[in-house]
Formats: sequence, C-alpha cells, structure tokens
Amino acid sequence: MAAPRIVLLAGDGTGPEVMREAVKVLKAVESGFGLSFDFVPYPCGGKHYLETGEEWPDGAFESCKAADAILLGAVGIPEARLPNGDLAGAGVIFGLRFGLDLYANVRPTKLYPNVRHKVHDAFKSVWESDKVDLVIVRENTEGLYTPARGVLSRGGTDELAIDSRVITRKGAERVIRFAFELSKQRDGAPGDGKKRVTCVDKSNVTAGDRLWRKVYDEVAAQYPGVERDYAYIDAFLQWLVRSPEAYDVAVAPNEWGDIATDLAAVLQGGMGMAAGANIGDEHGMFEPVHGSAPKHAGRDTVNPIAMILATQMMLDWLGRRKRDRALQAAATGVEAAVVNVLKAGKALTYDLGGSAKCSETGTAIARAVGRLSRKRA
Ligand code: IPM
Ligand code: MG
Repeated sequence: MAAPRIVLLAGDGTGPEVMREAVKVLKAVESGFGLSFDFVPYPCGGKHYLETGEEWPDGAFESCKAADAILLGAVGIPEARLPNGDLAGAGVIFGLRFGLDLYANVRPTKLYPNVRHKVHDAFKSVWESDKVDLVIVRENTEGLYTPARGVLSRGGTDELAIDSRVITRKGAERVIRFAFELSKQRDGAPGDGKKRVTCVDKSNVTAGDRLWRKVYDEVAAQYPGVERDYAYIDAFLQWLVRSPEAYDVAVAPNEWGDIATDLAAVLQGGMGMAAGANIGDEHGMFEPVHGSAPKHAGRDTVNPIAMILATQMMLDWLGRRKRDRALQAAATGVEAAVVNVLKAGKALTYDLGGSAKCSETGTAIARAVGRLSRKRA
C-alpha cells in the first residue's frame, strides 16, 4: 500500500498543541504497525487570516481533496473576523464539510475506564463507565448551516437578519442510512444490548423535521434488525443525561446535533475526550469536537486525547476503506493505548484530575502504542 497522504490542519489556539501529540502517536503507529504516512501540513485559521488575509493558503483545499484523509486541530480566535462578521477560520471547516460533501458528522460519546463524568448517579453513587457508549450522527451539510442567510441593512443599521433552515430528502436519507449502517456494526445500547437508532428532531413543530422523520421511517423500514426510537430534541437532551445507557446511535439534523454533542461530551468526561469524524462517500476529515480554547494556548496543558481519538477514528475509517489490516490493527491499538494510559492514571491532564502536561499525555499514549504493538508481534 502506498503511504496514505494525510493533510494536517493544526489551526488556532491549542490546535497545534493537540496536533503535535496526534502526530507523535501516528509516528509510534508507523514504527509499531509497519505503516508509513505522508504528512502534508498547511497553516490555517483566524491567526493565519490576520497575518495573511486568507483563511488558508491557495491550493490547500485541492490538496485536501487529493489526500487520503484530513486531520484538523481547531480554528477560530475571537479577534479574527471576516469583513462580513463571520469567524475567520470557520471557512476552513465549512469549506471541507460542504466542499467535500462530508455529510455525516460522527461523534461517539464513550466513557472510558477511570474517567469520571460530572453528572452524579443518585441511585448508585458510582461512576459507571459501561453506561455511556453511544454515537450521535449529525447531518453536516444543510439545516440551519445552509449558506442562505443575510442581513438587511438600511442607512448603516442592521435591521433584520435571516437564516434559512433547509432539510432535503437527499440530505436526510443518506445520513439516516449512515446511522443505521453504523448501528449494525455496533453491539447495541449498553442498557439492553439492543441495536437502536434514535431519530432526534422537532417534528412536533417544524416542517423540515417532519420531512426528516418521514424519511427516517422510510429508511428504518429497510433495517428490521435495528430498533426504531423517536425523541424531540428538547426531551432528548434530558433523557440523554438521565439515561445514557438507553442509546446506541442517535441521528439528528445539523444544528440539533451540534448542540446535543457538546452536552453529550459531558457524559464522557468533557470536551477533552470528545472526538469526531466528518465523513462523506469519498472523503474523511477528523477533528476533536472542542474548539481552539485560546485562553489555554501555549501552555501545554490541554487534554490531547480528543485529538488522538479523532486520529484513531481516521485509522479505523482508512483501514475499512482500504481493507488494510495494519491500519485496522493500528486503530484498535491506539484506542487500547488510550485506555491503558487512562487506567494507569499517571499521565492525566487537569481536566481528568491529573497534572500531566499535554505533551506528557501524548508521549505516554505513544509509548503505550509501542508496547502494545510489540506484544502483538
Ligand atoms: C462544531 C463547532 C462548529 C459547528 C463551529 C466551530 C463552526 O461548534 O464542530 O460542533 O458549529 O459546527
Ligand atoms: Mg459545536
């Protein structure tokens, strides 16, 4: 196999710090699993915009399009805005999501051993990691994020602002099918072991969500082995916190998924643990759910695990796509290495109750990858 070409977009704030640790882990994967990667880094984001007047260099998008996969750290700093008021750097994320048609935003919520979430279980008074293992699949190319918006400005006064929320049959169908296919590959909800896809919407109110639910029913009919489940977004957020074990896969329109995945991250120990994949039929971009956290930037303190787990999702996706056993083994190895380091409890960053630096956690995970690959050999 030719070395997979991976574009690295480290971006703003803590993006470069967590990206450095992801690359450290990928280097350990190269030597441990007999793989080799062709890394192609590009600068991008708000800081880059302030310095150069562009969100990313000419040719960066084409390079992403030609690559095997893309890793993104984080983009955006509060002081960098485009002339129209948009966050500078967001054009990179949306340029990729829309430009490469990455219609499924896949965000696993899994509570790993020795990680505590801050939602107390009053009945059992223990932290049960085996209760939280679900995936929220967020539609990624339409909904409220459709670029059909604008401001009516008269005499220099912004008088009216409109955002159009677009739900299409095509957009709903493909992402809902993605969710059902994903459920088929999983072991079901932790609570009862049943494969289940929860349709999250606001179909009691909006026309778009009614179409969404109708399409869900059509797709669900083709998956008799997967249980149907329905939740309005507001109630879903409550049930998610109360009974996370009831969920296997949930599928939601873009903006509902955006909101639900930040909440869900609380159940896995915080944003430092939440990874995501943006997947289309031809391309994949992998990123942590968290932002650039500018106030932590340059201190080597943030948790790199979200970025490292995004890298793990990339290895898994590439391994399936290329039917490559070494890549698949590497994906399993990286997750096992993360679990190893979490269980050992010595190289945890502040958000997990430790005092390790970002780079120390990354080094510990890279070493664990090395150990695990030697054991395998
Ligand atoms: C996310 C983020 C982005 C989004 C922002 C940074 C544009 O919140 O990936 O969830 O709204 O999609
Ligand atoms: Mg978000």
